[in-house]
Amino acid sequence: MFTKIFLALILAAAIAAVGVRFGSARHSPETTTTATTTTKTIAGSFSHPLVFPPVDTNANVSIGIDEACVQILDGPCTNMWTYGGTYPGLTIRRPTGQSTYVTFTNSLDPGAGEMTIHNHGNHSSANNDGQPETLLIPTGGSRTYTYEGVEEGNNQRGKMQFYHDHRMDVTGRNVWMGLTGLYIVDDPADPSTLPSGEFDLPLVIADRQFDANNQIPYVFNPNGVTGDKFLVNGVYQPYLEVGDRKYRVRILSASNFRTYFLELSTGDSFIQIGTESGLLPVPVTRTGMRMGPAERMDVVVNFSGQLGQNIYLVDALTGTQLLEFRVTQHVTDDSSIPATLRPLPDIGEPSVTRNWSFDQTAGHWTINGLRFDPSRVDARPVLGTTEKWVFTNPTGQPHTVHIHDVSQQCLSRNGGACYPYETMKETWYLSPGEVLEVKLKFTDHVGMYMLHCHMMEHEDDGMMTQFEVVVRANPTPRPRPTPRSRPTP
Ligand code: C2O
Ligand code: CU
Repeated sequence: MFTKIFLALILAAAIAAVGVRFGSARHSPETTTTATTTTKTIAGSFSHPLVFPPVDTNANVSIGIDEACVQILDGPCTNMWTYGGTYPGLTIRRPTGQSTYVTFTNSLDPGAGEMTIHNHGNHSSANNDGQPETLLIPTGGSRTYTYEGVEEGNNQRGKMQFYHDHRMDVTGRNVWMGLTGLYIVDDPADPSTLPSGEFDLPLVIADRQFDANNQIPYVFNPNGVTGDKFLVNGVYQPYLEVGDRKYRVRILSASNFRTYFLELSTGDSFIQIGTESGLLPVPVTRTGMRMGPAERMDVVVNFSGQLGQNIYLVDALTGTQLLEFRVTQHVTDDSSIPATLRPLPDIGEPSVTRNWSFDQTAGHWTINGLRFDPSRVDARPVLGTTEKWVFTNPTGQPHTVHIHDVSQQCLSRNGGACYPYETMKETWYLSPGEVLEVKLKFTDHVGMYMLHCHMMEHEDDGMMTQFEVVVRANPTPRPRPTPRSRPTP
């Protein structure tokens, strides 16, 4: 009798622990083969299953910006600022071409200040883009952002975007505290043979520094804030049971500052099919992938022939295993990667060139020698035109150049060819001394947009500026051609 009650108590405690760890709302989306309830434990590491944030596919989405104590490490939970109570926050997943209305309510302590949300990679109107200094959400207030899902009269391309806080001077703190969530756009024009459903795995990689009480206090450092623990979808050293087939793995680097170099422990290749801006024209095979803050790698990983093996996603820069794939099941693979994916949109030839130097000036991170000033506008491109933007990095540190509003197409890197996996993007890794030329077309929206380094401490230190898309001033009327005298027949 006593034993029975005792066992029941242990079971209840175990269930409660699991419920707390992963949150009642957290579940594996469409991952029936991988959602596991086994209680397998491996001493020390890779003993927690990978989880996925909850998913909302509705046109109207409500998200509380809430404090939550999130169970990440063993021991005390970690106090975080969240989108909907989990880290990463609620995943918004929407069909292209349809409007989505997302209402955020700022329920954080007043000390956190006003909030603003940027849907990174989305072609938003300026008022819905998450301005750093205007249209803010005060404590206790709400704001609805509209995302139209269209671009120049066409459906937006399928891709994995993400939304995060963008408040001036404190973006790094707010994101470090947890304000990041995925926004996935599904596009029926993308090849349907790619791995999908339970074989489509969004992964959010981020590093954090935990104190002795498992808390993550943020201390600003203009040279970057990093941590020694690497989380995947908010789980430290997770494992995922997979089948011996191809998976689509969409990776976001949600770190504030850290650069990764991703590899598979087998030495096998990733087949990269997409970037931040949707599918590539053709797939590109890569054995390693450098990844800076806010970049996304849309890849296919093939576990066929590896039944029974444990395979790690590794950061080669630190020699850290990030995620353990356990190939535990034999499943048939009906997916395939077409030889061609999506052609680039034709955005015409640039008529104007602008130069942007990601620099260090008087002890601060700057663009063209200037720190961010919300009252200054550094470019006024004309709606409907295409420009060439040239980025240089005279500093000794890398930067990730991110441009809001529209995607950019690579023209050249260091005077030569672009990487084949960087045809179109919106976040570009710029190593010391590099020169990158891109072209971009300002479609649909006028108004203010940001251009900045996505290494967030550089951004908050001042490596950000804004451009305003404007309507072409009325052309001065052309003088009428003087009528010619008709030739006499
Ligand atoms: Cu992901 Cu201006 O940001
Ligand atoms: Cu930078």
